[in-house]
Amino acid sequence: MNGEGKEIRIECEGAAVLPLDSLAELQGDIKKMTRANHKKLTRAIIEDGFSAPIFIWRSPTETANYIIDGHQRLSILRELREKQWGIPDIPVAFVDADTMQDAKKKLLTVASQFADFNVVKLDNFLIESGLDAIEVDSMVRLTRVDVIVKPGQRIWGSPDDRVEGPDGIVEKVGYGLGSFWPNIKNEEHEAFRYFIELPEEESATNAHRKKGNLINAGFFSRSPVFEMDKIIKTYMRPGNYFLDSCVGWATFSALAKYYGYSGTGIDIWDTALECSRRQIENMVSHEGSKVDIVEMDAMATQFEDGAFDFCYCNAPFFDEETYSGADNDIASSDPVIFESHFKKLLREIYRVTKTGALTVVVINDRRNKGMLVPMHSQVIEWGGTVGFGLHDMAIQETRTQMKRMRKNDYKVRRTTKSHEYVIVFKKPGGEIEDGTEENAG
Ligand SMILES: C[S@@+](CC[C@H](N)C(=O)[O-])C[C@H]1O[C@@H](n2cnc3c(N)ncnc32)[C@H](O)[C@@H]1O
Repeated sequence: MNGEGKEIRIECEGAAVLPLDSLAELQGDIKKMTRANHKKLTRAIIEDGFSAPIFIWRSPTETANYIIDGHQRLSILRELREKQWGIPDIPVAFVDADTMQDAKKKLLTVASQFADFNVVKLDNFLIESGLDAIEVDSMVRLTRVDVIVKPGQRIWGSPDDRVEGPDGIVEKVGYGLGSFWPNIKNEEHEAFRYFIELPEEESATNAHRKKGNLINAGFFSRSPVFEMDKIIKTYMRPGNYFLDSCVGWATFSALAKYYGYSGTGIDIWDTALECSRRQIENMVSHEGSKVDIVEMDAMATQFEDGAFDFCYCNAPFFDEETYSGADNDIASSDPVIFESHFKKLLREIYRVTKTGALTVVVINDRRNKGMLVPMHSQVIEWGGTVGFGLHDMAIQETRTQMKRMRKNDYKVRRTTKSHEYVIVFKKPGGEIEDGTEENAG
């Protein structure tokens, strides 16, 4: 959008106008905008002009004009100037504040709707400003940020990032090992830029189209990247060779590759296989790891007994989303067939994993004629029938049903399911590497 010879229109009046370069940063980069919002806001400024004054705090001691609100719009104006757009002086409104700390507090209360907080940067911002986290929390609506207070310490982060002591776990594992995994946007993950777009609606199979509703008609959903992250960091150890049974879009396999693990992903559906291969190709690896994507039925593989150190499995869930539509697709709306498929799948995973290996199965509960069917407990039971022991379980927060179901759920007096289960099986036996007593705790 080259703006040579063009000027951004000013469509508002403030208490004064100031040149763009006279405005000083107060916020740094505690907030960041998604690519989509950045585009939206840029287009709005070009098409509709600069339509509201920005808030400024004029520091009495430093004679500087600090930006209280309007950072995102001003950064877009700077970008536009680089693209040859003319930028007139900016209308400003003045906010009263006695001190820099007071000004920073005001900045948080008028936080822009166009960007989300970056938790770590926000933490530093608060510590540097000496602001009281509890007080700030009551003023600002922070969707994914909780305040955790320990004597003499203020920490911002999701609940499972809680630092509980000097045991070094957060530094070692990357999170606090909590068993509730909050929904964190995929965009926040450092590897997000290596994830490809999922297939568009046009590439949906006929089976998807036949179902004819928005959830199934070619709208594919990716497992949350941070869920994969926590699975890898908690349940895998360097050198583990993995099986991604029902690889889908290879969300798990790709992130495992990123973290230096090698393995094999299998699926029976050509759309998934093609997408997975592209995904693996697109993912960088820090350790030269190798991931193969192979067409194979997860209920009857050709792998040797005990070929894998670890297995991740996110199989179809009843017929929530239809995939290949093939006869050997695990998805089925018939509970008897689904159970038989799932048991075959678990039996096969048990066979191809090593003694002591962990297998992570992600599953959700469902409703049948209004009644809750506790699928997670059924799957645990089915795992037991093939020989697995239940090793661990975590809850992943998910948001997919929230908008779709909430109104109906309220009418019939129930909650909307906003979580899924991360069930961890163990093939009994094996040893813990450093001799730690496994039964402790
Ligand atoms: C829920 S998706 C996996 C999505 C994946 N977790 C991701 O986010 O990238 C389930 C996958 O299981 C595959 N599938 C269904 N039946 C299968 C079978 N018998 N063997 C292997 N894969 C199967 C489907 O084709 C689909 O790609």
